[in-house]
Amino acid sequence: MPASIVLGTQWGDEGKGKAVDFLADRVDYVVRYQGGNNAGHTVIAEGRLLKLQLIPSGILYPHITSVIADGVVVDPRHLIKEMDQVRETGVDVSRLVVSGNAHMIMPYHLELEKVTERFLGKNALGTTKRGIGPAYGDKAARIGLRIQDLFDEKIFREKLEVVLREKNLILTKIYNRLPLDADRIVEEYMGLAERVQPHVIDTGALLHQALIDGKQVMFEGAQGVLLDLDHGTYPFVTSSNPVAGSALASAGVGPHWVDRVVGIMKAYITRVGAGPFPTELVDDVGERLGTRGKEFGTVTGRQRRCGWFDACLGRYAARLNGLTELLVTKLDVLSGLDTVKICTGYRAYGQAFDDMPPHQSVFHDASPIYEELEGWHEEIDECRVFEDLPKQAQVYVRRMEELVGVPVSIVSVGPAREQSLPVPDPR
Ligand code: GDP
Ligand code: IMO
Ligand code: MG
Repeated sequence: MPASIVLGTQWGDEGKGKAVDFLADRVDYVVRYQGGNNAGHTVIAEGRLLKLQLIPSGILYPHITSVIADGVVVDPRHLIKEMDQVRETGVDVSRLVVSGNAHMIMPYHLELEKVTERFLGKNALGTTKRGIGPAYGDKAARIGLRIQDLFDEKIFREKLEVVLREKNLILTKIYNRLPLDADRIVEEYMGLAERVQPHVIDTGALLHQALIDGKQVMFEGAQGVLLDLDHGTYPFVTSSNPVAGSALASAGVGPHWVDRVVGIMKAYITRVGAGPFPTELVDDVGERLGTRGKEFGTVTGRQRRCGWFDACLGRYAARLNGLTELLVTKLDVLSGLDTVKICTGYRAYGQAFDDMPPHQSVFHDASPIYEELEGWHEEIDECRVFEDLPKQAQVYVRRMEELVGVPVSIVSVGPAREQSLPVPDPR
């Protein structure tokens, strides 16, 4: 079957960019299906380092068509900037296509997010401030502007003026900010339209035909399932659905095409921004993981919170997405520890849980139950086959696999494409 979905199984930054680049060598299309330029996907290959935010991570392969699907929110100013940046590294971006149905992030979304986050005070979510929440909010409220609106100035202006009437009242009367000027936005966006237009097509029809023709399509998620609007740690989530099911809804593709769902799972866990995190380490081990793993946000530069691998959340991700395999990343970061821990369950309110507790208060209160494994001291970033890994590292991966209940197919031991080891089937 020709379609696969590759997605983050934790709170983002699992190494999706690296994984998609590695897995995409034999696919024809890579499709980003949700989020916007809040994502930061790092690809290191062919002597290049790309930090992609909107452009799918298959862009380095000249034979791949990169698709931004309907369910993504696109800041057209950012899109053009990112295309220019990628082009400057010598990569051809002419094969990037964007759905006309994708909603746009508008200047008032950025303004509003700034003031509403400030207004929340100590309850702020710690968003990336890219206008993601406000843009998805307007989409659901049916007052969003879509990419296709760029190509009809009359409609663009009409919609903008209606929306801006309300947004400016909110900005001026509630938040004491200056109003935004419709004429200036129209002028700027009409200027962008010319650059965007050559890339806009009916992506749903394109993918449908591709699948019928037997082409290989890979869907690339952004963020991770614990940041999913419905299934994540609400309200400390993003405003879209990273779960696998959402790939199909976003791109307008039927579920029968998909037979491979790859969960990208870091060998430990990180989180940027606020929200519960049972296995968080606020000690020198956490600091060590952050330093060795270079855990700083790709988009905002913020320090990522680090913690032990949580198999409970791993099982939750497996269940939510129907994962068929795991790609474990950053195993190399765990080198040099005497012992490594895996969370196998929680204790909260005097009760034990071996799955994600369904009530938020229980999860906020959850203290992890750990299993301790022997660590390893060797650096492993130069290993190229699974059997080269120290025994303890192999045992660790096999234990992850067992506890999550999904086979590990690849282990990543460094950021580069070649630092990816196929894992033999133990059966
Ligand atoms: P994404 O958002 O899931 O694509 O992940 P990010 O790119 O934001 O963060 C992952 C970081 O880890 C990037 O700097 C990658 O280059 C890096 N990385 C990916 N896989 C590995 C790995 O196996 N080992 C190490 N040390 N770094 C990795
Ligand atoms: P990638 O694709 C990690 C987090 C933010 C914040 C919350 C809401 O690189 O894994 P938003 O701006 O989306 O409204 O912020 O979600 N967040 C991410 N954390 N990786 C990401 O993307 C993220 N995108 C958003 O830090 O807590
Ligand atoms: Mg990232």
